[in-house]
This record gives sequence, structure tokens and C-alpha cells, in this order.
Amino acid sequence: MTTDTKINQASLDQLFFKARTANGFIDKAVPMALLQEVYDIARMGATSMNTQPTRYVFLNSPESRARLIPALSPGNVEKTKVAPVTVIVATDSQFFEHMPQVWHVPTAKDMFAGNAPLAQGTATRNGTLGGAYFMIAARAVGLDCGPMSGVDLAKVNAEFFPDGRFTANFLINLGYGDDSKLFDRNPRLSFEQACTVL
Ligand SMILES: Cc1cc2nc3c(=O)[nH]c(=O)nc-3n(C[C@H](O)[C@H](O)[C@H](O)COP(=O)(O)O)c2cc1C
Repeated sequence: MTTDTKINQASLDQLFFKARTANGFIDKAVPMALLQEVYDIARMGATSMNTQPTRYVFLNSPESRARLIPALSPGNVEKTKVAPVTVIVATDSQFFEHMPQVWHVPTAKDMFAGNAPLAQGTATRNGTLGGAYFMIAARAVGLDCGPMSGVDLAKVNAEFFPDGRFTANFLINLGYGDDSKLFDRNPRLSFEQACTVL
């Protein structure tokens, strides 16, 4: 569908211009139905050959959160404790098992199964895209995100993914942000600094 129409300023503000990285959360729960809605939006984001290698593990209870805390950098502990939900954004190394379901060419699965560097590159690139789509989708339904890479991923993998099929990429605290805990906004690079037109 080509709309040739810009979304309105309020939507742009919610997704980007006024959206902030949450550094604390108010005491307001995130219903399971909202997590499903976020996933249903995020999964529509593009991935190469529709591979969809991102997996999302929702730590939605004090018990599951307690298993994560020892892996966190000290500066990430407090905000993670108060976040209603923490998401482990993980990558499924065997994503190609699903190719017969998600791609229209029957040989697609074999293409990845027989080429480890191709499978790994595809998983890494598209797995991270999935995390980004998830954050934008979460903002679209009114949630705030606190992404974190300050974590010992080897510890997370050992604790949550002992069979080695999934690997943790980064974390996202999810909930309703406590604006009093925000850091000052840092500047973005200008078009001239970040973009080249050839
Ligand atoms: C992948 C990723 C990892 C991050 N890791 C951490 C982290 O470990 N701890 C932290 O406090 N902030 C972390 N951040 C937050 C960034 O510093 C923040 O998003 C950035 O400064 C922009 O902030 P703003 O959205 O409020 O402008 C991370 C962000 C991303 C996207």
C-alpha cells in the first residue's frame, strides 16, 4: 500500500521526537494483551527473505526478573527492578526451520541450513532489526522503552538459553516511564554529518 501521506505530527512526536529512553518507571502494570499487540505490530517489520529471527522473552514476574539481575551492569539494576516487564531480545540461530511457513520458495530453508556464514549474518542483522521494530511498536501503543546492552550476555545465555539455540542480543525495559528519572536529551548528528548523497 502506497499512501504518499506523511503521518501526523503527534504520531511522529510519540514515535520519535518526544519519545525518550526510559530510565525509571511508574508503578503501572503492562497487560499481557498489550504485549501481544506490540508483537503483532512489530512482526510486520521487514526482514530479509521474511526470516524473522528475533525472539522476545518477556520477564513478567519477580522470579524471572531475579534470574536476570546478576547479569546486569550496576547502573541498570535499579531501573530493571522497577520496570513492569523486561524483554530479552534474542536471536534464533535456527530461524530457517520456519522458512517453509514464511517464505514462498521451498528451497529457502536448505539455503540457510547449508551455509552457516549466511545464516549467521542474516540472523544478526535481522535479529537486531526486530528489536528496533519492537521498540517503535511499543511506543506506538503508548509504552516507554529502556533498551540496555549493559549486560553480561554470556550470563543471560547460560541462565535462559542453556541449549544454545537462542542467543541474547540486548534487553528492553518496558512500561510507563517516570519522567523525573530522565537523563537530559543528547544531540543527534546532523544530516551533513551522518548522510552522504552520491
Ligand atoms: C541497544 C541499546 C543499548 C543501550 N544500553 C543502555 C544501557 O545499558 N544502559 C542505559 O542506561 N542506557 C542504555 N541505552 C540507552 C541510550 O543511551 C539512549 O537510548 C540514548 O542515549 C538516547 O536517549 P533518548 O532516546 O532519551 O534521546 C541503550 C540504548 C540502546 C538502543
